[in-house]
Amino acid sequence: MSRTRIAVNGYGVIGKRVADAVLLQPDMDLVGIADVATDWRIKAAIGRFAVYASTDEADAAMRTAGVPVAGTLDDLLAQVDVVVDTTPKHVAAGNLARYQAAAVKVVFQGGESHETTGHSFVAQANYESALGRDMTRVVSCNTTSIVRVLGALQDAGLLARARGVLIRRATDPWESHLGGIMNTMVPEPKIPSHQGPDTKTVRPELDVVTIAAKGAHTQTHNHYWSIQLTRTASREDVIGALRAAPRIAFIRMADGLVALNSTIELMKDLGRPRGDMWEVAVWEDLVTVVGDEAYLTYQVYNEAIVVPETIDAIRALTETAPTAAASMAITDATLGIRQDFLAGGQRAHPPGRTDDLDRS
Ligand SMILES: NC(=O)c1ccc[n+]([C@@H]2O[C@H](COP(=O)([O-])OP(=O)(O)OC[C@H]3O[C@@H](n4cnc5c(N)ncnc54)[C@H](O)[C@@H]3O)[C@@H](O)[C@H]2O)c1
Repeated sequence: MSRTRIAVNGYGVIGKRVADAVLLQPDMDLVGIADVATDWRIKAAIGRFAVYASTDEADAAMRTAGVPVAGTLDDLLAQVDVVVDTTPKHVAAGNLARYQAAAVKVVFQGGESHETTGHSFVAQANYESALGRDMTRVVSCNTTSIVRVLGALQDAGLLARARGVLIRRATDPWESHLGGIMNTMVPEPKIPSHQGPDTKTVRPELDVVTIAAKGAHTQTHNHYWSIQLTRTASREDVIGALRAAPRIAFIRMADGLVALNSTIELMKDLGRPRGDMWEVAVWEDLVTVVGDEAYLTYQVYNEAIVVPETIDAIRALTETAPTAAASMAITDATLGIRQDFLAGGQRAHPPGRTDDLDRS
């Protein structure tokens, strides 16, 4: 099998994680990374990756700062099959003409619009429709989680409609000295918030509305869902549907995982790189079903959830794995994606919780 040659342009929160994930893939080579930064963020990559300058100004500034620059972004593009653009929102779309001139395939991220690529990607939902395309957009962290969770219920024939409230992190930890909010919550100024409509760029058939707010914390998003089912169902039906879907893992209050920080700490204790969680973490003991309505809450590790999707998007564009299942099997094994984080995690009814709301 020939190996796919990859460039990552934009070595920030998402880009550095994608670069590390590419290194783990048996069918991919990371040729280099490109950026415009000159400080610790790019210096930390020296010796691990060939570093390229994304702009002429950056080239001069990086050399002045002592970064050994391997060449320009165009030099890098000349050596690769696919570029993953993880530059900030809207910078990426401005790079498209450069990528097209270099005849490389492109994976964009959720900061760009669906219209930029004409295709939006979540592996388990629509991998096959990206096969052989020139570009796609891996949807945002929140949208990825919604597609995974609501898609699982839809695929099980359980979902009539879903209404969700999303509490987002204020800013990413590395830049929290620059901004963010304290001691308040900031509702998004529009209902529905953009994540619901964005979900439909991947699964148009989902009946979903989202309301969002920014919280005063810096790590992970938290979703609360009220779901109208197609029929009277049991907790086991809903949990079974979620368990049957990939990249959803269960956490439990009964295990002491009672808040966002508990899960974040657990990921570090499990030795995950940067403490990342690629799975959507659904609180199993909070899944509640009353007749034909279900309620659930889950946690989204925004800095990492799109990384496996990005790896799969590369395989879809290059047609190096024929199906979502084939690509995801490689990605999930190399990253170590799990369905449960703790031993003994298959309990359907955690101790200490009664099922008195389950009337099915
Ligand atoms: N941060 C998240 O939680 C998150 C989650 C999912 C998706 N995304 C999306 O991923 C994309 C990247 O976001 P991020 O959070 O990683 O951003 P970031 O700010 O952490 O990283 C962006 C990197 O791009 C570099 N850069 C800036 N201008 C550049 C240019 N012209 N050429 C090359 N490099 C340039 C910056 O120096 C930085 O290293 C965005 O589309 C964002 O919406 C972010």
